[in-house]
Amino acid sequence: MKTENQVAIVTGGASGLGKATAQALVQSGAKVALFDMNAENGAKAAAELGGETIFVPANVADHTSVDDAVAQVRNAFGTVHIVASCAGIGGSTRILGKKGLVAPEWFPNIVNVNLVGTFNLVRSTVALISENPPDEGGERGVYINTASIAAFDGQIGQAAYSASKGGIVSMTLTLAREFANTGIRVMTILPGIFDTPLLGTLPPEAKERLNKQVPFPSRLGQVEEYAALALHIINNRYLNGESIRLDGALRMGFGRR
Ligand SMILES: NC(=O)c1ccc[n+]([C@@H]2O[C@H](COP(=O)([O-])OP(=O)(O)OC[C@H]3O[C@@H](n4cnc5c(N)ncnc54)[C@H](O)[C@@H]3O)[C@@H](O)[C@H]2O)c1
Repeated sequence: MKTENQVAIVTGGASGLGKATAQALVQSGAKVALFDMNAENGAKAAAELGGETIFVPANVADHTSVDDAVAQVRNAFGTVHIVASCAGIGGSTRILGKKGLVAPEWFPNIVNVNLVGTFNLVRSTVALISENPPDEGGERGVYINTASIAAFDGQIGQAAYSASKGGIVSMTLTLAREFANTGIRVMTILPGIFDTPLLGTLPPEAKERLNKQVPFPSRLGQVEEYAALALHIINNRYLNGESIRLDGALRMGFGRR
């Protein structure tokens, strides 16, 4: 579908991959609502991106918060056509670590933000998207979800993260099939390692080690490369029900014991 004058929600839009995607959407003429828990960064990002960008505070893990935020988008822009779910959290912890067993909340907390949060966006917007008049290709909307190569190549300590991302991959085709008759596409991007604040705390030596693991180009992914794929997915009607790795041919190995 086209992006010009379309309404997009970008979760995690205050930072990293979400912010870059929002920027690409604004530059291609979309009206964008940034959803994020970080109100300070969210307001800053909306001001920076300009155009018709609004910031709506939302916790994707909380379905009432998402419902409220979507209602605000409806008030501001009338409808929604595009949802890019980029909100997510990491967190690497061994189940049986040096300090004993991991807290029981660890697993559900990560799954609630990454997987349930992605589903909450779908649930809160699909009725609205279904009411859009179909465009000339019969399309009413598109979902772009963000998984991770950890869905397939999870590292030690990533049981919760990789399970949450694997769930996003698994529901992609299922959702695409469910919404096919409504003219709504569903796609997922699996980023490799991208240079975002999520990795920002790593020391330079650790970043350099990561760079070397990527076959080509041997560097971290740039947020604009993620945004470019998101825009392509929106524009290319024949992409549906698929998950695409965006990782410079990186396949994470076993790692250290
Ligand atoms: N950076 C990478 O290398 C990488 C690799 C693979 C997958 N990913 C995935 O890409 C997505 C974006 O990551 P990023 O690197 O841009 O991270 P980031 O930390 O820069 O941005 C994530 C944003 O999500 C927001 N957020 C977190 N929990 C939220 C919640 N419950 N509700 C609303 N907003 C919330 C944060 O406030 C933040 O602004 C995540 O889902 C992450 O798992 C990133």
